[in-house]
Amino acid sequence: MRIVVTGGSGDLGGRVVRQISARGHEAVAASRRTGVNLATGDGLDCVLEGVDAVIHSASSQTKPQSVDVAGARRICEALRRIGSPAHVVSISIVGSDLIPYAYYRAKVDSERVLEEADVPATVLRATQFHSLAAFFGTAGRVGPLTFSIGNMRIQPVDIDWVAQRLTDHATGPAPSGYRRATDIAGPTAYSADQMAEILATHDGRKPPRVVRVPALLPVMRGFAKGGILPGPGAEIGGQSFEDWLRGQPTPMPRRFHSPT
Ligand SMILES: NC(=O)c1ccc[n+]([C@@H]2O[C@H](COP(=O)([O-])OP(=O)(O)OC[C@H]3O[C@@H](n4cnc5c(N)ncnc54)[C@H](OP(=O)(O)O)[C@@H]3O)[C@@H](O)[C@H]2O)c1
Repeated sequence: MRIVVTGGSGDLGGRVVRQISARGHEAVAASRRTGVNLATGDGLDCVLEGVDAVIHSASSQTKPQSVDVAGARRICEALRRIGSPAHVVSISIVGSDLIPYAYYRAKVDSERVLEEADVPATVLRATQFHSLAAFFGTAGRVGPLTFSIGNMRIQPVDIDWVAQRLTDHATGPAPSGYRRATDIAGPTAYSADQMAEILATHDGRKPPRVVRVPALLPVMRGFAKGGILPGPGAEIGGQSFEDWLRGQPTPMPRRFHSPT
């Protein structure tokens, strides 16, 4: 199969590209650095010629309406224009419909674009990647303190497993229309205290004291009420956070993405 991966140079997309190649398919990374701009549509028609599936993993934290949402729309329009029946598989976030945060709203908008487009499409929602959970845990630390929104918990997931599941969907049978795949999450939900303890043990230092900030704003209430936790029907799998952390440098750097 020929599979185009938008955001194929990114943290998740790069892993998806490697997964596809390891399974003997042709992976084509599409992002600005390969001449494809989803915010303008430049380069799209050309890269989508002869494609069997598209994995939409490109994203912008600052311009999600242009890249995640309009990008999904442009992919569908381009496929229609070139008469391609290709399956579009897109990554979204567990609980994005429950938390009124602009980036999460864009993820829901991009799901809706695919639901309303006349193309075979699968949306897979995943929880936060381990690297993001570690970033929250390290970036929120100030001296001997760390902060938590109420009793918020997080159930992070192994990014390599997310890449595998996206590849499974893209290489498996395509639906006739729109499909929401079963949400995926890692094996354990952690409170801020547990996360602080695990990260401190990894770094070989004393855990910080967790200060609970009241969930005053709607976004904070969404997090505090467990909006980002998977529901009972979610598929659980991948490496645990602790196992992933064992492979990371000591002390854990404050970085958003995993090293590839
Ligand atoms: N991080 C998490 O915890 C998490 C959890 C669940 C789901 N997700 C989802 O996973 C996806 C990937 O996240 P990530 O952290 O891997 O992202 P990332 O590393 O920031 O990568 C973003 C990718 O998007 C591309 N891109 C940005 N603007 C573009 C544009 N205008 N046109 C074309 N490509 C563009 C970038 O490449 P260029 O710079 O070359 O354009 C890059 O390859 C996102 O949809 C995110 O919502 C993330």
